[in-house]
Parts: sequence; C-alpha cells; structure tokens
Amino acid sequence: MLVLGIETSCDETGVALYDGRLGLVANRLHSQVDLHAQYGGVVPEIAARDHVRRVLPLVRDALEEAGRRPSAVEGVAYTGGPGLIGALLVGAAVGRALAWGWGVPAVAVHHLEAHLLAPLLEEPAPEFPFLALLVSGGHTQLVAVRAPGEYRIIGESLDDAAGEAFDKTAKLLGLGYPGGPALAALARDGDPGRFRFPRPMTDRPGLDFSFSGLKTHALRTFRTEPPGPTLAADIARAFEEAVVDTLCIKCRRALRETRFDRVVVAGGVGANRRLRERLVRKLDARVFYPRLELCTDNGAMVAFAGFLRLEAGERQPSALGARARWPLDSLRRICHRPPSAGADPLAEGGR
Ligand code: KG4
Ligand code: ZN
Repeated sequence: MLVLGIETSCDETGVALYDGRLGLVANRLHSQVDLHAQYGGVVPEIAARDHVRRVLPLVRDALEEAGRRPSAVEGVAYTGGPGLIGALLVGAAVGRALAWGWGVPAVAVHHLEAHLLAPLLEEPAPEFPFLALLVSGGHTQLVAVRAPGEYRIIGESLDDAAGEAFDKTAKLLGLGYPGGPALAALARDGDPGRFRFPRPMTDRPGLDFSFSGLKTHALRTFRTEPPGPTLAADIARAFEEAVVDTLCIKCRRALRETRFDRVVVAGGVGANRRLRERLVRKLDARVFYPRLELCTDNGAMVAFAGFLRLEAGERQPSALGARARWPLDSLRRICHRPPSAGADPLAEGGR
C-alpha cells in the first residue's frame, strides 16, 4: 500500500510517501521558522496560512520525488491532532479532499503516536514492548508501549514540556525562536562546572516532570550574577544539563518499573545531542532514535503511522477529523480487522 502523509500541526509543512514494500519513498518539508522568527514564537494564524500555500506544491514534489502518479496513492494520512487547530484543519481538509478525489481511504493520525512510531522507520527497528520518551514542544511523556496503538502514559509533565522549557529559557537569554536548537548550540560553549541547576521532582518517587521552575531558576541566575561574556552560555549549559539529567533519571526509573529493556526517544528534543549521548551511556537498555529529521515534525512519521492504521482497515469517515486536544492513551490498538469494522479513531475517548 502506498500512503501519502501530511503533517501540518504546528510550524512545519511535511509531506511524505510511505510504500508498504519499499519503505519511505519521498519526504518533503517546509519549515516556517523564517516567518515566525520576527515574532519570537509561532503565530497560529500565520502558520495556518502558510500551510495553505505550501501543502499542495509539496504533495506534487513528493510524488515527483517518488516517481509516482497520483493514481498510485492508495491511502491518505494526515495529522488529526493534537496541535494548533487552524493549522491542523489545513492538512485535514487537503488530505480528506485528496482522498475523496482519488477515491482512496483517509485516516487521521495522532501526532504523538506518529512521533513515537518514527524509530520504526529505522534499521534496526525496536521490537515491542518498549518505553517511549516523548519530548516535543508541547509534550513530555513516558509511555509504556506494548504494541502499536497500545499506549499507557506512566509519567508526564505537570507544567511546561521539555521543549517548551528550552524555548522559554532561550527567549529569556535573548536567543531567538526556535529556542531549543539555539540554546543547545550556546550550551556547547558553557562551563559545566559554574552553575548547578536543580533536577526537579527527582527527590521523590514517581515519573512525572516539572520543568517550569528551571526556567525561573535560569532567569534569576541571569539577573543576579555579574554580567560577563560567558554568563548566558554557562546558564544554557547548566539548564541543558539539568533537563538531560532529569529525563535520564526518570527514564531509568521507568525502565525499572516496566522491566522493559528498550527505550525509544521521539519528538523534537530527541534531536538534542547531549540527551542522545547521555541516554545511551547511562541507561541499562538499548536506546533507539530516529535520524534527526525524523525527530522534529515531518510527514514521514505521519505517512508511516497512517500506513499501519490503514493497513489494519481503519478509515476516517468523511468528516474532517481535527482536534487541538487528543489524549494519546485514548487510541485503539492497531490490529487487523475487516475495513467495514474500521472505526473513527477520533470518535472514542475524546473530550
Ligand atoms: O516535536 P517537535 O518538532 O514539535 C512538536 O510536536 O512540538 O518539537 C519541537 C521542540 C521545540 O520546543 C524545540 O525547541 C525542541 O523541540 N528542539 C530542541 C532541539 N531541537 C528541537 N530542544 C533541545 N535541543 C535541540 N537540539
Ligand atoms: Zn511534533
């Protein structure tokens, strides 16, 4: 089955083609970074308008890259949520319309499921079950993954997500948007011995996270320490160290609790080099990452997750399935069943 995947949940337009026999055959991305940079963050209305401009040309590019005609596409997957509703609606409307026009089924994909299944696009792919550390701009979650679609959230952030904390701390250090990569780059020049930031919620049992205090800690340090040429870099280093160490401690705990011996790291913060190295070095488990461009938002992961669900017979009814909030653990296990029994994945357990 050849599946077209469309991702428009935030500030990247991603379009890809996944072939059940050949794997990923096209992957195109347009980043809106330049558009939002002047505002210091993502402006939802601008994001939605840009997706409108980019998505169809990217679909054409992807078909050309794969050397396929539109008639070869056998299913369409689009990100149904969670995300910015205006942005999601663009991908949903275009995906649904293309599927209708081409006479093929469509499916709405959960953005976080797409992130956490992305490492399955790599060789070697992790086997089930595994622990997933989902670290994106909007979510930080530890998920026990028994099978595709069977997700139990065993820990999550009570306030800011890890990516959000990176972005906010970057902003207060005067770095632009997107903050995560900029802060990580600055941290490389920082002195790891100068400041030690707290490791929030590691002094008590449990798997939840809280990163908003770190941002305040960074701000206080920035304001009270004597200004100097290395101050921002030293703070960036201490901040990154604290986030990475905290994620590592909680992953180790989650492994003990689940008795799993595989960890999958997914989402934008999974692109952080220090985090990748630390987890490999410190965890008593095999650690799987997707390549960097499959960590941050992309169409490939949507095409792949959609492929799994479409192959299993799931179909999205003709309504546009897009929602800003969509709990990951409300999804159904992906199992093969006749297409007629395929149900609306958005209809269950929603708010
Ligand atoms: O998964 P993603 O691309 O989008 C969401 O679904 O949210 O994640 C974006 C987040 C942003 O907060 C960004 O600052 C962060 O991932 N990020 C990083 C790095 N690259 C992206 N954070 C730390 N270090 C990085 N190298
Ligand atoms: Zn994402």
